[in-house]
Amino acid sequence: MIINFNQMNHDWPQRRIGKQHDVCRAVGLHRYTNLQIADATAGLARDAFIFAKLGANVTMIERHTAIAAAIQQALEACEDIDLKSRLQFYHHDSREFLKHSDEYDVIYLDPMFPSDNRTALAKKDLQRLQAIVGHDSDSDELLDLAKHKARKRVVVKRHKYTPYLDAQTPSLSINGSSMRYDIYLMQAS
Ligand SMILES: C[S@@+](CC[C@H](N)C(=O)[O-])C[C@H]1O[C@@H](n2cnc3c(N)ncnc32)[C@H](O)[C@@H]1O
Repeated sequence: MIINFNQMNHDWPQRRIGKQHDVCRAVGLHRYTNLQIADATAGLARDAFIFAKLGANVTMIERHTAIAAAIQQALEACEDIDLKSRLQFYHHDSREFLKHSDEYDVIYLDPMFPSDNRTALAKKDLQRLQAIVGHDSDSDELLDLAKHKARKRVVVKRHKYTPYLDAQTPSLSINGSSMRYDIYLMQAS
């Protein structure tokens, strides 16, 4: 199974990921408790897992049928009741889902960019994911939809050198060694 929450749980202590980690600061886990996060490009659910482990309630949305089935299976097999209770999943295209959804504190977007070779993420599973889903060339549309449904912020994960999603300049960015988190703030926070 390419997604396994029990394995992720097992590996969690060695990963030493805390609320000051780039992706966690980007979504605001260092500032807010009980965040409601929509991960609109769930993929292998790695980021969703981190958010849920650190206390957020996460709604994962994934449109690709095979990946959606893998997420669903992983959720069913998840033995950690607390973790499981923090993860919800919908097999949908987020462009439709967000039109009809409730609001979330944070909407998180990590689409596969066309020239995204994921050098830093050149792990086998992510390469397999890219081989399965290809490129998310329609993801520009997601940003405005997300901005309408986010109470606090929209966060877009990009490779360090890829342009802003939909050419929209963020309120701020967090630059990691290979990835960048573009943050679109909805309110003073
Ligand atoms: C780079 S991967 C995300 C990886 C994920 N952040 C993780 O931690 O594993 C992008 C995923 O978003 C999905 N995706 C892209 N656009 C989408 C959309 N409009 N609705 C739902 N899923 C989408 C793709 O099918 C793919 O599985």
